[in-house]
Amino acid sequence: MIYNFNETPIYYTTSGSGPALVLLHGFLESSTIWEEMIPAWKEKYTIICVDLPGHGKSGTISQVHTMELMAKVLHELLEYLEVPKSKIVGHSMGGYVALAYAEHFPEKLDTLVLLNSTTVSDSPERKENRDRALRIIESEKKSFIGMAINNLFSTETRKHFPSEIETLKKEAYTFSTEGIKANIRGMRDRVDRTAILKNFPGRKWVVAGRMDPIVPFSQSEQVALDSHSPLKIVEGSHMSWLENKDEIISFMLFIDFFYT
Ligand code: MLT
Repeated sequence: MIYNFNETPIYYTTSGSGPALVLLHGFLESSTIWEEMIPAWKEKYTIICVDLPGHGKSGTISQVHTMELMAKVLHELLEYLEVPKSKIVGHSMGGYVALAYAEHFPEKLDTLVLLNSTTVSDSPERKENRDRALRIIESEKKSFIGMAINNLFSTETRKHFPSEIETLKKEAYTFSTEGIKANIRGMRDRVDRTAILKNFPGRKWVVAGRMDPIVPFSQSEQVALDSHSPLKIVEGSHMSWLENKDEIISFMLFIDFFYT
């Protein structure tokens, strides 16, 4: 279905019944990453999957998709769907959006799961990499996407998911260059939200892959410590929704049970 945010189409799906569970994908992904989880979760939750601006079937809103802007889009969509409170799982960039949402709409959220994501902002080196990506993507879109998606996996796990990686790439090739650039700028400019997670009064989790090449495991350990969040460790890299699918499925089914 489509929700229009200031005339920009935002694609979303809903399924199941029960408390609202919002699933936010990462950079160069779309709501399709959650498809195999939905049958397992829809008995327990009303699942809302969103294509974040510039991704999947959603349009591009502006030159910079700040995390705040994307959180506002999510807020408007959830208001439109009359969802009073939700649980959010944000994968990587989706986690950055979830943190901005927790900052601006804390009363609307009871559980926040950062999946292969982080509260800290980009290091100077990472910002430089973003700027480099912005410079090359116009002429090298396909190779940029191919390389960026390969880099989401460790060398080891990449070998296990060749067809899934191809599917991810094929979909990302269809995203507009402007949308991709807007999201790169938004990630580059995002602020540190460790304090937001620390002060978040609801349930929170940091789920980290031990071999994550994007969010180093040591950083996740530190974020969990600094934000007083429980840390769930999975064996794999940055794509736990794929590499550790069954574990993530049961984690979300028993999340209240696990909370101490
Ligand atoms: C993602 O997977 O969403 C991105 O790799 C996150 C990032 O680049 O910071």
